[in-house]
Amino acid sequence: MPDLDSPQRQVPDALMLTGFWYRALPADQVQRNQLHQAMLLEIPLVIGRDRQKQPFALRDACPHRGMPLSCGRFDGENVECSYHGWQFDAHDGQCELIPSLTADQSLKVDRIYAGSYPCEEQDGFIWVYIPDPGPPGAGFSAREEAPEPAPLIEKFSEKYKLAYLTADMPVSIDHGIIGLMDPAHGPFVHQAWWWRSRHSIHEKKKNFEPIPNGFRMSAHTPSSNSAPYKLLRLYAAADSITTTIDFVLPNLRREIIRAGKYWFSSLTTVTPITRNQCRIDVVAAWNIFGWMPFGPDLLKFVFAKFVEQDRHTMELQAEGLKHNPHLMLIDDADRPAKWYFQLKAAHLEAKRTGTEMKHPMPGPVTLKWRS
Ligand code: FES
Ligand SMILES: [Fe+2]
Repeated sequence: MPDLDSPQRQVPDALMLTGFWYRALPADQVQRNQLHQAMLLEIPLVIGRDRQKQPFALRDACPHRGMPLSCGRFDGENVECSYHGWQFDAHDGQCELIPSLTADQSLKVDRIYAGSYPCEEQDGFIWVYIPDPGPPGAGFSAREEAPEPAPLIEKFSEKYKLAYLTADMPVSIDHGIIGLMDPAHGPFVHQAWWWRSRHSIHEKKKNFEPIPNGFRMSAHTPSSNSAPYKLLRLYAAADSITTTIDFVLPNLRREIIRAGKYWFSSLTTVTPITRNQCRIDVVAAWNIFGWMPFGPDLLKFVFAKFVEQDRHTMELQAEGLKHNPHLMLIDDADRPAKWYFQLKAAHLEAKRTGTEMKHPMPGPVTLKWRS
């Protein structure tokens, strides 16, 4: 690798990856028999739940004349467009009725489809699968099914609690993701008197290894200034606590902390909304703090504070990015960001050539930085 010691010019392309599941909306925001708008990868969606509470996702544009279907009516089964009253099955988008047709007109209504997407509820979120764009001219066919179910949060006991946090970030998916995995901003962005100051900065050394579609910060005793770690210290001996952090394409960050029978597991996603906008959703599950009445609230408070600090930082960064400045990535602190760009490129290349993805990491790597 020739670029290890010199800063590397970085041109984020903000390309949004199709062929993956994305979080669309918190599940508790979507009630039965209602229609909600959402946007994923610049695709407007209408999301709802049928009578049986099953969620569905349609493209928010009528295939007749483009009217947003979210302006229409929903009876718990079919969505009716507000312009000419065409009706579509909420789940597969198949046209059920065109009211203007006379008895002797033979147009095959059931060959018409509103765009529809595989949709699942998982760990407090409605997930939508965004397939690769079809060939031009398509649009009269049923949808593509997802090759695998939506991602799950790993859990290690029957009983657990679940909570989520969400924040809009006014930057592209690439900046959202490299901001999420950036180890060097902590002492500057996440300062608080009860937490840490920029003077607590110290050298860190972490081992990373390749995993399918991503990389893992190998199991280790967590950094003494990570949030769940400080709380877990109340429950278990410091050296019994281990954590692993994975990043997996397109946008998943999993963190698992285990301390004896106690565990904390989170799945954070950065979701592309438009080219210049993404959203961060943190969902955490845990079986700790059972006896501590304010435990979950405390954790949520800490996370909310962090996410707000990141959001505010990215809002300021978006100002700086408006005029396309040159950017760079340095070793070792920006190496995870380099891996992200390399993984993305390798994924696209594998898709283009129809071959297996070549992982950009040759094997385990140790990184050092101060934070
Ligand atoms: S635009 Fe929807 S029915 Fe005509
Ligand atoms: Fe941060």
